[in-house]
Amino acid sequence: MHASFNLAAELDAALMAAASAAGLVDAAEFAPDVRPADARHGDYQANGVLGHAKARKLNPRATAEKLVAALPAGLHDACAIMIAGPGFVNFTLKPAALLAWLRAHDTEDHLRAGAASAKHNQTWIVDYSSPNTAKQMHVGHLRSAVIGEAIARLLAFSGARVVRDNHIGDWGTQFGKLIWAYKRHLDAGALAQDPLEEFERLYKAGHHAAEAGPAVMDEARAELVKLQGGDAENLAIWRKINDVSLAAFQQIYDRFGIRFDVALGESFYNDKVGQIYRELSGCGLAVESDGALVVFHPEHPRFKQQPLMIRKRDGAANYASTDLATILYRAEHFHATGALYVVDKRQSDHFEQLFLTAQKWFAQSGRPVPQLQHVDFGTILGEDNRPLKTRSGENIKLKDLLAEAEERAFALVSGRSLDFPEAERRAIAAIVGVGSVQYADLSQNRSSDYVFAWDKMISLEGNTAAYLLYAIARIHSIFRKLAARPNDLAIEGAASALETPAELALARKLVKFPNALDTAVGQLRPHFLCLYLYELAGEFSAFYNADKVGVDDAGIRGRRLLLCARTLLILETGLRLLGLRTLTRM
Ligand code: ARG
Repeated sequence: MHASFNLAAELDAALMAAASAAGLVDAAEFAPDVRPADARHGDYQANGVLGHAKARKLNPRATAEKLVAALPAGLHDACAIMIAGPGFVNFTLKPAALLAWLRAHDTEDHLRAGAASAKHNQTWIVDYSSPNTAKQMHVGHLRSAVIGEAIARLLAFSGARVVRDNHIGDWGTQFGKLIWAYKRHLDAGALAQDPLEEFERLYKAGHHAAEAGPAVMDEARAELVKLQGGDAENLAIWRKINDVSLAAFQQIYDRFGIRFDVALGESFYNDKVGQIYRELSGCGLAVESDGALVVFHPEHPRFKQQPLMIRKRDGAANYASTDLATILYRAEHFHATGALYVVDKRQSDHFEQLFLTAQKWFAQSGRPVPQLQHVDFGTILGEDNRPLKTRSGENIKLKDLLAEAEERAFALVSGRSLDFPEAERRAIAAIVGVGSVQYADLSQNRSSDYVFAWDKMISLEGNTAAYLLYAIARIHSIFRKLAARPNDLAIEGAASALETPAELALARKLVKFPNALDTAVGQLRPHFLCLYLYELAGEFSAFYNADKVGVDDAGIRGRRLLLCARTLLILETGLRLLGLRTLTRM
């Protein structure tokens, strides 16, 4: 074996080659399906022999034996290979192979280089966060931002070119009422102090006035028509509202470490929807219905009756028209392989209809059909199992949520490290607080709802950010105490062969990082990486309790410090890929 990054993939390839060499029936169709095994069965298991043999009426065990015999000698040197049960092939890495992998994967760049084959030559648009302007970000905006950022980082690490696009809702009908109120009820002092609060107040004022009197409703509508017609005064107000909104959003993004490459909101596509109407009507996909332009999908059980509306009766564009224009723009401008829409699962009908429409339209117009995927997520619930709100039933603002997270993290940090200067405890709390909120979200299967529970998420116990950050801080402190540093070649060079059960168990977990990454990227589900990191930190604890690191024997000390260094590297890399910041003391 060559200590390649993903050992399971290497074994998979070796079995494929062996299949041809051994003259296996239909060797070209053989899929070895090598994956990490339950620790009792070694490190990796090939599950594919059984099915392949059965389907061709071959004896699975005999087939497995033939394959194993055809594997190159180097592989037999690197791992113990056993045939188990009816025809599984189990691989157990020998200590030298484990050590070779650990030595080779010494920096984040080397890990990245190993991972960067999966998405080579692909460009992915990640459409995430995407809030509507003129409102503050609230808890309903948390998941898209946090999950989207993690997915963007995971894809980039896997070698893709990633375009982070904030598809902000900056062109809604809300602007009619807002501009109406802005012109009449603006409080300049409040605007200077907290503009988004003021815009929200104005919007509510406009909304109530319009509800109360049809005359106001008409005036608000007229403001919207003026805006859409390019009226200079209304455009200036609109621009100001959007600028202020974006600046406020950026303050939240900064705390999550989010930087968008582009923020092409709905308004950007204003002048691009005409082409959509023309093309979709032209190829017969879109038809007029009650004055609106709609797309039916006759083969679909629901969308044959509920069409996708792409132009409203009053001629205005809507969510679907801009989304169609966006798909075309991304294909033409970014040459995107595909786009990932990190959006609440309640919008799944919209995306299903949108994607169906785009696929037919692209195919009919002879364009390569992009890969479009709705990366959905569930709702954040309160401890009463209902969507999380404040006591008075309002949406919880993200800035308040993050402030509370930091306060609670400060209490946690002060509880254990009261001897640290307050400024340092505050700095740690900022990382632990925000990280806990991110991690609590990411560690759940994104498609499920989850209960937001402060005490569980800001805790040193369980699968939490604080637990992992503490593990990282502890490894840093081991190095400090031994006056050593990670990647000291003199120390690591002296490392002798891994021996104790705890050393071997930790090494076996470390080499599986690529598989956790693969699963998380393949399914676009960061929780697989979270679970891996949590288990890795557990293995590290077991190792640290069982085996003393600071021993005199240079060989033993070297290999144990090597294990510490690689655990640190993978925990730090993993948390960074999830979007968290890490620390060296806690
Ligand atoms: N602004 C939308 C909302 O708040 C989300 C946009 C998602 N992205 C998209 N291309 N439709 O619900």
